[in-house]
Amino acid sequence: MNLDYLKDGFIKLYGDGEIRIFHSPGRVNLIGEHIDYNGGYVFPCALDFGTYGLVRKRKDRKINLCSMNFPKRVQVDIDNIVYEAEDDWGNYIKGVIKIFGEEGYNVGGMDILISGNIPNGAGLSSSASVEVLAGVIIDELFNNGNIDKVELVKLCQRAENEFVGVNCGIMDQFAIGIGRKNKGILLDCYTLKYQYAYIELRDFTLVIMNTNKRRALSESKYNERRMECEEGLKIIKNIKNVENLCQLDIEDYNNFKDLFFNENVKKRVEHVIYENHRVKKAFELINEGKVEEFGELLIESHMSLKNLYEVTGKELDTIVDLALKCEGCIGARMTGAGFGGCAIAIVKQYRVAEFIEYVKEHYSKKIGCEPSFYLSGIGEGAKEC
Ligand code: GLA
Repeated sequence: MNLDYLKDGFIKLYGDGEIRIFHSPGRVNLIGEHIDYNGGYVFPCALDFGTYGLVRKRKDRKINLCSMNFPKRVQVDIDNIVYEAEDDWGNYIKGVIKIFGEEGYNVGGMDILISGNIPNGAGLSSSASVEVLAGVIIDELFNNGNIDKVELVKLCQRAENEFVGVNCGIMDQFAIGIGRKNKGILLDCYTLKYQYAYIELRDFTLVIMNTNKRRALSESKYNERRMECEEGLKIIKNIKNVENLCQLDIEDYNNFKDLFFNENVKKRVEHVIYENHRVKKAFELINEGKVEEFGELLIESHMSLKNLYEVTGKELDTIVDLALKCEGCIGARMTGAGFGGCAIAIVKQYRVAEFIEYVKEHYSKKIGCEPSFYLSGIGEGAKEC
């Protein structure tokens, strides 16, 4: 991204003066899917690409928002922030400002220009990227950088839940706010304790594959899965004192599985318990440099998301199947909510070009649209540049 070009754009919009520049990444989840809202472990990382935000304080209490990606311009008054569907992406920033203000943090007038290169609707968390960008801007401009990072990402999640109305878990905002270069984050979504693992893939590379199927309709299914998990938990709670499904281990599952009369609920619970177990194993394997075994777990995770949690669909299954047919690919799985969006693959570096060619050709033939590929490194969390 050419920052001089963005600065010129900012000056054209808002005039000359001081400009501060922030960057907030996208994210992928390496493993641990549909686990955050079940209180278990996830293992995401921040990406190299994301959203830039250029900003200047104003003397009044107005917020001007403009994006290089969309024509819509938004102006709001800090003391009267309400959700407006037509404000589109602007609502993510509005929501964050509102929640931070309500929580007693200092907020003030700003001129903001954002510019992002996370494909929209690809499941790489473009919206969480914008939210955490806004959170970090508020922290640096008005609160001397004193807001605790975990508190900051929790408030951004609240903005998405309460203001935008999407019932997501904590994983995306956390990975984007707390991410570190070349590191994955093992996050316990119940306690929010976390530790980093250096991601050393030796002569393998992480390839992100976009099915280019937008995640339309996904929200309703997402909520359906959450409800099925809650139903499962309710049944378990009758016999065991637990707060969430991830407090159960595989032995518990085997003891309790006959209690689930609803086959779907049983399958969802089985996925959650085994996936949580896989995440802990995956973290150990990465720390021990066992990349091939790590790859095996990605495949197991995808199969479970396909057969038990049922959130993959034709496009994601096709792209993962094709990836696994390629020489040099040792693991692949969908990442994020599912139903479309992206998958990841771990591929031998010197085979990446032929891998992309093969998957692109066969996916296009089968599905009728071309997939996209991103070779992103693991990037830093959101911060001032
Ligand atoms: C979406 C949500 C996350 C998480 C994933 C599934 O990305 O925003 O909170 O639940 O789906 O793992």
